[in-house]
Amino acid sequence: MRSSALGLMGLGVMGANLARNLARNGARLALFDTASGVAEPLAKDIGAGAVGADDIAGLIAALPAPRSVMLMVPAGQPVDDALEALRPHLGAGDIVIDGGNSFYRDTQRRQIEFARQSVHVLGFGVSGGAEGALRGPAIMAGGETAAVASVAPLFEAIAADAPDGSACFARVGAGAAGHFVKSVHNGIEYAHMQLIAETWHLLRRMVGMSHEEARTIFARWAEGELSSFLMECAVQVLDTRDPESGVPMIERVVDTAEQKGTGQWTANAALAYGVAAPTLAEAVHARCLSALKSDRLANETALGPSTMAFAGDRMALTAALGRALLAANIAVLAQGFALMRAADQEEGWGVDLATVARVWRGGCIVRSELLEPIAEACAALPAGTNLLRAPALWRMVSAGDAAWRQVVVTAIAHGVPVPAFASSLSYVDALRTGRLWADMIAAQRDVFGQHGFTRLDKPGRHHADWAPYTGADKG
Ligand code: 6PG
Repeated sequence: MRSSALGLMGLGVMGANLARNLARNGARLALFDTASGVAEPLAKDIGAGAVGADDIAGLIAALPAPRSVMLMVPAGQPVDDALEALRPHLGAGDIVIDGGNSFYRDTQRRQIEFARQSVHVLGFGVSGGAEGALRGPAIMAGGETAAVASVAPLFEAIAADAPDGSACFARVGAGAAGHFVKSVHNGIEYAHMQLIAETWHLLRRMVGMSHEEARTIFARWAEGELSSFLMECAVQVLDTRDPESGVPMIERVVDTAEQKGTGQWTANAALAYGVAAPTLAEAVHARCLSALKSDRLANETALGPSTMAFAGDRMALTAALGRALLAANIAVLAQGFALMRAADQEEGWGVDLATVARVWRGGCIVRSELLEPIAEACAALPAGTNLLRAPALWRMVSAGDAAWRQVVVTAIAHGVPVPAFASSLSYVDALRTGRLWADMIAAQRDVFGQHGFTRLDKPGRHHADWAPYTGADKG
């Protein structure tokens, strides 16, 4: 039985908050940060027997073997640096838990490297931001079963509770599954944020609602079927005023969204595994477009703005937006879950998607009312079936079908870009169209590259003796 002693390296806001949470829940902590003068005062402040170490040797000396050390350092080189610093002090059976947003391929590499000295590197996706780290994050653990099980009690204790009281902690799979699942969580986070942003933009800038009117609608939605952490977050944004001018703070925020890379990794992974996740990718593209602030301003002057004022039925469009937002949120989740399934098939992690959905019911950024029916759908649907086939989910999507089309058509007709609404609708439409446009692509590939195609009426692969190009006159 592994002791409740845990070393924690990296005492920034996330690390320090996680330390407080761990100590409150019975962990005996040894703390270390590469910045001097941080660990000792934090340990004192936390109490509960926490000790601050001056160096890695001190951190390790404070831990009984086999040791468990958690890294809460920024993803990328800092994780490699921390592991290299730890390496000479680690021995067989020791565990290093990477709790950052690491790229899952890096985690795979580190796991292989450290397995040589029988040290387990576990990749834990920790979601919920600084507040979540303090009060209860969702934790997606990845790695070898026995190693995860040996530290699980500590992390179950600090995790958020789902609405049914169960801990939002689970081993989601072997290897780098934890970090991959966290990356997909972030991809979904990007897409849900983009949908909320498009909704707000349509209400304010196309429909021309006042801040207060639109804020009231958001607040009502956040209490109903659309309730989610991100909707609550949006209402918090809308309720905040600039203390200097008194105007809503959002009116002072530059329309440029930064990104740290997890959404892009997820979109890249979708392409690499050959999975359609268009809205996850569009949300990344949308952030890239947002970053072109000065170009957009210059182009608006040079080319003229695209957005036209809306003169239709405001209340009808608003109601349609609410229904479309729910349907599109589900389509985004369907994309994310399809991606996790495909990646898992290729990597052999043994991910149970119902477990992932259950872990996401509390603590994490994408938590919403939808995760419960999604968990049920993952458990009930035959493996490999898109979530849209779950009757409870499809009921919600199809109830929003007409509204969703109305939103996309209206936005496009008024020159308002809605990449998340439009791509998610196309995703659903494509998935429910038995015969798509790709017959033309398959045929063209055979014309110019003799790549072959399959026929509807005969088995096997075929080439055609395509007609020579004759131009317009010959028809
Ligand atoms: C979470 C968040 C967290 C972080 C994002 C922000 O689950 O707690 O996803 O990990 O807020 O990484 O990502 P961007 O900076 O790329 O928007």
